[in-house]
Amino acid sequence: MCINIVRFGSGGLISTTPNSILDTMGFELPELEYDYDALEPHIDAETMELHHSKHHAGYTSKLNAAIEGTELDGLGIEELMTGHFDNAAVRNNGGGYWNHEMFWKTMGPNGGGEPNGDLANAITDTFGSFDSMKEQFANAAMTRFGSGWAWLCVANGTLCICSTPNQDNPLMTGEGIPILGVDVWEHAYYKSYGPGRANYIQAWWNVVDWNMVATNYEGAI
Ligand SMILES: [Fe+2]
Repeated sequence: MCINIVRFGSGGLISTTPNSILDTMGFELPELEYDYDALEPHIDAETMELHHSKHHAGYTSKLNAAIEGTELDGLGIEELMTGHFDNAAVRNNGGGYWNHEMFWKTMGPNGGGEPNGDLANAITDTFGSFDSMKEQFANAAMTRFGSGWAWLCVANGTLCICSTPNQDNPLMTGEGIPILGVDVWEHAYYKSYGPGRANYIQAWWNVVDWNMVATNYEGAI
């Protein structure tokens, strides 16, 4: 498990949309850098479209509604998540906003394969092998009861794996700095895989953009 994270909210691993300038507009739904059908056959186009244009859009609008007109209006997303964990609307919708932005950015049509460089070395040092990391990560995703996420994180300079319920994430809980996460809510996979979460996770590895994960790792380390 990831423990004892020491860094909070000092800049994002991914580009977010802090509303300090556009505080009358709030957070905006990030555009995907690929088409809805670009991840087929591993993730189908209808799932991608609903996931982005309905689910992620919903978290975005509800987050804006939760902070509009309050003292929270104008804070960045990481500051909202880490500093207002007890605010259920901010926690759930802020997490949904941040988690999905990372999710989109760490997938792509040219994904799959294995990382190289420092990230590959760190995975081997920590888990023994790339396949062992995948096995532990998949186990975290499979044993997350109900809806949630599994994460590859950096904590105290070391890679670790954990999972969180609902739209929580390790930045909120202090467990680590996420560099890769998989959404295991049924809305992420049910159309193609039904209750077969294991098949979804196995297919999902084919769309992981390890170059982006390596960039996240460099930022976190
Ligand atoms: Fe989702």
